[in-house]
Amino acid sequence: MPAKKKAEPAKTKKKVPAKKASAKTEEVPKKKVKTPELLRGFRDILPDEQGRWNMVRDAIRNIAEAYTFDRIDLPVLERTDLFQRTVGKATDIIEKEMYTFTDPSNRSVALRPEATASAARAYINHGMLERPQPVKLWYMGPMFRHDRPQAGRYRQFNQAGFESFGVHEPIVDAQLIVLGVQIFKDLGLDVKVDINSIGTPECRQAYLAELVAYFRQHRSKLCDEDKKRLQKNPLRLLDSKDETTRELLDGAPQILDWLDEKSKEHFMKVLEFIEEVEIPFTLNPYLVRGLDYYSHTVFEFLPADDTGEKAQNALGGGGRYDGLVELLGGREETPACGFALGIERIVRALGDKGIDPPQRPQPQVFFAQLGDAARRIGLNLYEEFRQAGIPVAEAFGKNALKAQLEAANKLNVDLTLILGQKEVLDGTIIIRDMESGAQEIVDVKKVVSLVEKKLRKEEGVAPITQSPVVEK
Ligand code: HAM
Repeated sequence: MPAKKKAEPAKTKKKVPAKKASAKTEEVPKKKVKTPELLRGFRDILPDEQGRWNMVRDAIRNIAEAYTFDRIDLPVLERTDLFQRTVGKATDIIEKEMYTFTDPSNRSVALRPEATASAARAYINHGMLERPQPVKLWYMGPMFRHDRPQAGRYRQFNQAGFESFGVHEPIVDAQLIVLGVQIFKDLGLDVKVDINSIGTPECRQAYLAELVAYFRQHRSKLCDEDKKRLQKNPLRLLDSKDETTRELLDGAPQILDWLDEKSKEHFMKVLEFIEEVEIPFTLNPYLVRGLDYYSHTVFEFLPADDTGEKAQNALGGGGRYDGLVELLGGREETPACGFALGIERIVRALGDKGIDPPQRPQPQVFFAQLGDAARRIGLNLYEEFRQAGIPVAEAFGKNALKAQLEAANKLNVDLTLILGQKEVLDGTIIIRDMESGAQEIVDVKKVVSLVEKKLRKEEGVAPITQSPVVEK
């Protein structure tokens, strides 16, 4: 009898469970992987939407060029105090909407909630006041506000802004309004302009005393939000959306009655200029805007059919901000004026109106291949056609010719180029006329110019015959 195998020490002995017949096929259940969700108020701008986005971007860029504004790209992250000093401590943006954090250098930084402050900073930083004035800048890019998301209000949204530094003439305000309206016209959107003047900080101070006195008499009727505004930023009572406050506003003092002579004169001239170009505007004595840096003219672009009930309807807004450059340590009394458009809202307005972007030109040529050698040539050919300005469709990922011809049929192309193994060896390629089904074998080196000719004036080129002729 063979000697009994010595038992292995207990610690190394593995207890193997008896295998079931099916154990081999049994799969370990996969852990369900959770897909990260988008942050609230943030969105993907999907390929389907890009057509309208491009329409808006193009319209803005064209107008910027035509009105000789120079593009500036500003950082998305800035020191927090840039915005605290300019936008205003008691504004919603600074009080509760800024994405502020401490960076690894222990510095307080913020994702920009707007870009006017950055533009003014750049104007000073780069000595632009030494250049011929006005310095006219435009920008386009994302802004961040941690506001309550709803239709038309996002936490990351895109603005296009126009800023004009260095000239205080009312024509600057008027021309900015005109060019803003022109962008909407070019896009086929009807807008109206709400406009007001909030004068200089001095005349505003006297007005505010009066406004506060008026609302104090009615304090008990105000909602909590407006009670806070009365205490912290009474000017914002003018654009309250609360019904009671709006009713009370009928009897409230109006800022226009408190403007000094110079402010009045400036405002009258702005109105005259925009009347001259027949821009429909409403003098809205309650328009004040949510940023503290404005003086004199303030304005907003609204959909022509806007009822004024929703704050998130404005398609754009801006005004004069004569004190901002000085506030940031720039030259005293540097005048400036500008506005920004909300691109998401404009894209949405286009959709609501059924305004569609122009279709991408459909390729008239399809490239079909058989095998990797043909694919390699195809990669080069694709580029040659692109350089000749002929869009070519392909299905490089497909193998069977049938499937590729089906794809070509679906795209309704005029010509399909077929490159099989034989053609690769011969240095040729087949051109197939999709309507007649006629095929022609040509020198692969000449295919671009031949296709170009066929597409340009099909009638001028000898018709494709069934008997293949090799052009060398
Ligand atoms: P704003 O009125 O705060 O002004 O913003 C301008 C436009 O940006 C608004 O009219 C709106 O279309 C869009 N917008 C604002 N917040 C949001 C949001 N949460 N979601 C979607 N769109 C939004 C300014 O930012 C000033 N920097 C404009 C300016 C330039 N003033 C002088 N120069």
